[in-house]
Amino acid sequence: MKIAVGSDHGGFRLKKHLCAYLAERGYSFHDFGVYSGETAADYPDFAVLVAEAVACGNYDLGIISCGTGIGVNITANKIPGIRAAHCHDTFSARMAREHNDANVLTMGGRVIGSGLALEVVQVFLQANFTGGRHACRVEKIREVERRLQPFSKVRP
Ligand code: RB5
Repeated sequence: MKIAVGSDHGGFRLKKHLCAYLAERGYSFHDFGVYSGETAADYPDFAVLVAEAVACGNYDLGIISCGTGIGVNITANKIPGIRAAHCHDTFSARMAREHNDANVLTMGGRVIGSGLALEVVQVFLQANFTGGRHACRVEKIREVERRLQPFSKVRP
């Protein structure tokens, strides 16, 4: 499994813990930045890098953090094919994978402690989409994406 990770300055500390955790457990991952928490960075820039890397199939799952996790979530969900779930608890993380086939996890470095965050990550990475009735629902999300595609060409 290949994992794409990224953050802005607000999520940088959390991402550092996360990268150490992934490395320790032998996960294959790439950090798309930022590489320092010292200077302010615009969260959409890094959310897009991770989301596009997942959407084009180069990575299986993505994990993105900013101060709240909200900005990166909003951004990632603009990328067709991305189902980003904002989770600060393990139940939501499991459901996001099992029911929604979420392919990106977003978290807030200023919201959640690193201990719980790593548990959330672990659950997200280990859970699998259960398919069945949930597959039809996820297909309906894809249908919405397909329906909205023409609009994306005319909207600013
Ligand atoms: C940066 O100050 C902050 O706005 C950002 O990290 C994030 O929380 C946005 O959603």
